[in-house]
Amino acid sequence: MTALPREGAVIEIAAPGPPEVLRPAVRPVAPPGPGEVLIRVAAAGVNRPDVLQRQGLYPPPPGASDIPGLEVAGEVVAAGDGAGWRVGDRVCALVAGGGYAEYCLAPGPQCLPVPAGLTLVEAAGIPETFFTVWTNVFERGRLAPGETLLVHGGSSGIGTAAIPLARALGARVLATAGSAEKCAACAALGAERAINYRELDFVAAVKEATGGRGVDVVLDMVGGDYIPRNLECLAVEGRLVLIALPRGAKAEVSFAPVLFRRLTITGSSLRPRTVEQKGAIARALRERVWPLLESGRVRPVIHSRFPLAEAAAAHRLMESGAHIGKIVLEPPGGPASRRLESRTP
Ligand SMILES: NC(=O)c1ccc[n+]([C@@H]2O[C@H](COP(=O)([O-])OP(=O)(O)OC[C@H]3O[C@@H](n4cnc5c(N)ncnc54)[C@H](OP(=O)(O)O)[C@@H]3O)[C@@H](O)[C@H]2O)c1
Repeated sequence: MTALPREGAVIEIAAPGPPEVLRPAVRPVAPPGPGEVLIRVAAAGVNRPDVLQRQGLYPPPPGASDIPGLEVAGEVVAAGDGAGWRVGDRVCALVAGGGYAEYCLAPGPQCLPVPAGLTLVEAAGIPETFFTVWTNVFERGRLAPGETLLVHGGSSGIGTAAIPLARALGARVLATAGSAEKCAACAALGAERAINYRELDFVAAVKEATGGRGVDVVLDMVGGDYIPRNLECLAVEGRLVLIALPRGAKAEVSFAPVLFRRLTITGSSLRPRTVEQKGAIARALRERVWPLLESGRVRPVIHSRFPLAEAAAAHRLMESGAHIGKIVLEPPGGPASRRLESRTP
């Protein structure tokens, strides 16, 4: 039987508040239940929803860990019945919480193999963003080859996944971002036009870039007054997909374009969906996106890495908005740093 750790390092949210409430702690390590795996975490992605959770604005769904962290990569150290993975497998996983830790439980269907050629740090930056982009841009938004996508927040973790993926699957991509440096990054990832929204009206820029036609899909993480402007950007039969609303959940909107240009407004949030639904997204990713990651046509953009214990600094960086791509945490490595006790899962 494999020796499992009795306890492991985690980052707790001491109380809702600023980054300093992220506090290193030690928690017992639970063995995996049926259908689950226990992962020794090599790296965990930091996502904007973690910041909202830390602030007390995005509580974990019922049954999820109170430890923040929605994605990890590492090695399976124990597998429950029917999990579909073996001890020693290298996986990346979407989790509903618990990622900021040395050890993390994950439902088997939400795990994917670490793509060949990618590091564990790169793999840790994949699940939350690629699950979100796939289900919103390609499933709900139905982006098809030859169509045009507008990505707001093109330099975000989400944006830096959406731009190369849409390009690799045959779409044209326009993006918005808040600085010249961020726009240059969007262009390097494949956006044919990157619009600095602080300097230009993105509606006019989109119209100009598309010869007045508009785009087929808008991926919006801004909301508020962007909503009517997004509708203006859409071509006939266009789709607006909302994934976040930091500028507000309410807006004054004329719905006339929805009728006259036959538009669709949709959106989703990933975290509360069932293991079965997330597993279906994982299967689609493995079939359609893993070959692109393994061939190097699409690659996660890692902006910076922090030791797990410095999660507060990682959150400060994310809140500064200075990053381009993903921020990743790395738990202490090596068996010497782990408290081991022989026991069976
Ligand atoms: N629905 C879901 O299932 C789901 C899942 C994961 C993430 N999300 C959401 O997706 C967004 C991106 O997540 P992330 O982890 O990739 O975060 P991130 O890297 O911190 O990116 C946040 C982005 O939002 C952009 N932004 C914020 N306010 C803006 C504004 N007023 N105008 C234009 N852009 C604005 C920023 O762009 P600039 O710096 O250029 O202003 C930044 O690139 C977050 O809002 C997150 O909550 C949703």
